[in-house]
Amino acid sequence: MDIKKIISELSLEEKASLCSGEDFWHTKTVQRLGIPSVMVSDGPHGLRKQAPDSGDKFNQSIKAVCFPAACALACSFDRDLLFRLGQALGNECQAENVSIILGPGTNIKRSPLCGRNFEYFSEDPFLASNIAASHIKGVQSQGVGTSLKHFFANNQETRRMSISEEIDERTIHEIYLSAFETAVKDAKPETLMCSYNKVNGVYSSENKWLLTDILREKWGFEGFVMSDWGAVCNRAAGVEAGLDLEMPGSGGVNDEEIVKAVKNGTLDESAVDKCCENILRAVDKLVSAHREDAVWDKNADHELAAEIAAQCMILLKNEDNILPLDKNKKIAFIGKFAESPRFQGGGSSHINTDNISCALAESAAYSNNISYAQGYVTDKDIIDEQLINEAVELAENNDIAVIFAGLTDLFESEGFDRSHMSMPQCQNELIRRVAEVQPNTIVILHNGAPVEMPWINSVKGLLETYLGGEGTGKAVCDIIFGKVNPSGKLAETFPLKLSHNPSYLSFPGEGDLTRYSEGIFVGYRYYDYKDMDVLFPFGFGLSYTDFEYSDLKLSSNNISSNDQLTVTVTVKNTGNTAGSEVVQLYVSDKESSVIRPVKELKGFEKIFLEPGQSGTVSFTLNRRSFAFYSTLTHDWFVESGDFEILIGSSSRDIRLSDTVNVTSEDKFPFVCTPDTTMGDIFAKPELKKFVDPLVDSYMAVMDMSSDMSELGESTRLMLEAQLSDMPLHAMVDFSSGKIRHEDIADICNKINNV
Ligand code: BGC
Repeated sequence: MDIKKIISELSLEEKASLCSGEDFWHTKTVQRLGIPSVMVSDGPHGLRKQAPDSGDKFNQSIKAVCFPAACALACSFDRDLLFRLGQALGNECQAENVSIILGPGTNIKRSPLCGRNFEYFSEDPFLASNIAASHIKGVQSQGVGTSLKHFFANNQETRRMSISEEIDERTIHEIYLSAFETAVKDAKPETLMCSYNKVNGVYSSENKWLLTDILREKWGFEGFVMSDWGAVCNRAAGVEAGLDLEMPGSGGVNDEEIVKAVKNGTLDESAVDKCCENILRAVDKLVSAHREDAVWDKNADHELAAEIAAQCMILLKNEDNILPLDKNKKIAFIGKFAESPRFQGGGSSHINTDNISCALAESAAYSNNISYAQGYVTDKDIIDEQLINEAVELAENNDIAVIFAGLTDLFESEGFDRSHMSMPQCQNELIRRVAEVQPNTIVILHNGAPVEMPWINSVKGLLETYLGGEGTGKAVCDIIFGKVNPSGKLAETFPLKLSHNPSYLSFPGEGDLTRYSEGIFVGYRYYDYKDMDVLFPFGFGLSYTDFEYSDLKLSSNNISSNDQLTVTVTVKNTGNTAGSEVVQLYVSDKESSVIRPVKELKGFEKIFLEPGQSGTVSFTLNRRSFAFYSTLTHDWFVESGDFEILIGSSSRDIRLSDTVNVTSEDKFPFVCTPDTTMGDIFAKPELKKFVDPLVDSYMAVMDMSSDMSELGESTRLMLEAQLSDMPLHAMVDFSSGKIRHEDIADICNKINNV
């Protein structure tokens, strides 16, 4: 397709029209010029393609396979697994003639209450962005586009279409943009979806700094940006900012706004051309990549969904090695989720599947010693004494009780936030009462986000499945009966209680404003800095085997900030069961001019080892691994000094460490003004001479010798300390007029000319 030529042949009205959707799920076609339309469909963890015969029933989608949700997928810490998931999704899209699957979502889990956390990966931007990158690469390897969403800071559902997220510059870069950055740069998604919300008062759909300066100019994005469904407010401003495609389209109303703006001179037509070009380039590429002969195998993908789910589940407690289950024991499965699991969340990512594996049926493959009691209802939260009594009686008459619990659809979904972190009361009460009579109680959780666990000390086992997709029942049984050794690690912290969460005071904000008062201290960055106990830390997860870490090696202990650093470590499976370990690398800056987290994740690798086997895991660190975002240089900045390289099995289980000294060429700009403090100048020995006259005058007025060296050491230090927070202009007063404003201006001038 000669895109430039086509655009030159389109009228302004046609171009404006190309910049919005044909309907909910299609881009526009211009037949006279051979411009095809492509279909987009929701995902991201399955294909939610509107059924061709669904008429205007917007929610009627084809039967498809539901893979685990993002909250679970990230816990695999496994790039290859995400790539395989992406490949399968991409292939399904090819077979169904869908050109773009909407996702993945990589927003940061700022608060455990965000109703859509189940669709997001992590509280940590490094993990989120790397996992998203693998997902994208997998899908796009099949010639199908992705739409990385929701760009950016869509971290709550409350007033998601009008809220302004008030975030400071450093936090924007270190946390909320970083969650997208690697995925964009490394995986090159064909499209991005802008978020509904505003950031610092500007809608993402109209944010030129975001959609052009950062995304295209800094990160080199070459695809097109589409709006979230209905996120457009001022369409002309959106075109100017870099929002290429409006979805689903406003029946032409907003297209007219574009035309009007060009005609009245407030929008340059070249901006419209650019949007068309971006859209057509991707459409052309995706149409050419379409494979007519693609087929997909629903059963094979169902098996894959179960396999992936088992790689994501996290064993959080295993007292007395209660798991894997002894098949010769009499086991009670308790809880509605054993026969009807919660395996996906509600809203636009909802997959229409009819092949849901439940643990109760799947357990038959392992044991015929299993009985069942429902325990609770899921359509409301009421304590049903009869159901609980039946469950308690069953638990008493068996050797082990396995309770399937978690959150119901009433508790979390797209479209609203949770107001608390509790599980349904009826389930908490059930667990409490069963554990009272059965010491061998295990809880299997199905939930999209952390919950408080008042019963944690009275149960022996805990398996977190998150929302494991349609294969969840099989995956749970494979793990609890020992066919699969659990290897998931938490991609977010489980706090002891909601009020411990750093966003607690400002989530979800007041009216249309929420202030990110916790700044960069999101998730473990906060709990670590405050040295707080948590229920389960970031990166934590148990295994049926043990791993020993040794032989940490750094390629050098002295590097320049532009060098790469290779870190290797040996891991040995010292137990009797084969299994995978997620090795985590955190970097800790030992001394910094800005407040930094105690440590930050900068590498993770998953390694599979047979019993007794050892393997080497290798990480590559670069400049960015040591950098923070400086609000002085408005860029990433590395400060010279020592950094600790921490190798852990979780964020709170650091096994090995070493130190690297980094020499950086980065320099802060230093501009001296009358507001500059004496201390800032003292800190630069080469500048000290310029303020000596000020010090002399101060001493004279204070009736002290002007020769500091004559003073005792402690007096001298005290004087310097006193002066250090004093701005230059204050010296006019403190010198009783001996120093004048002109003198201060002169000093500033001299310093700035050094
Ligand atoms: C959601 C998006 C989704 C779109 C299309 C929006 O409401 O925020 O994630 O892709 O609808 O269904």
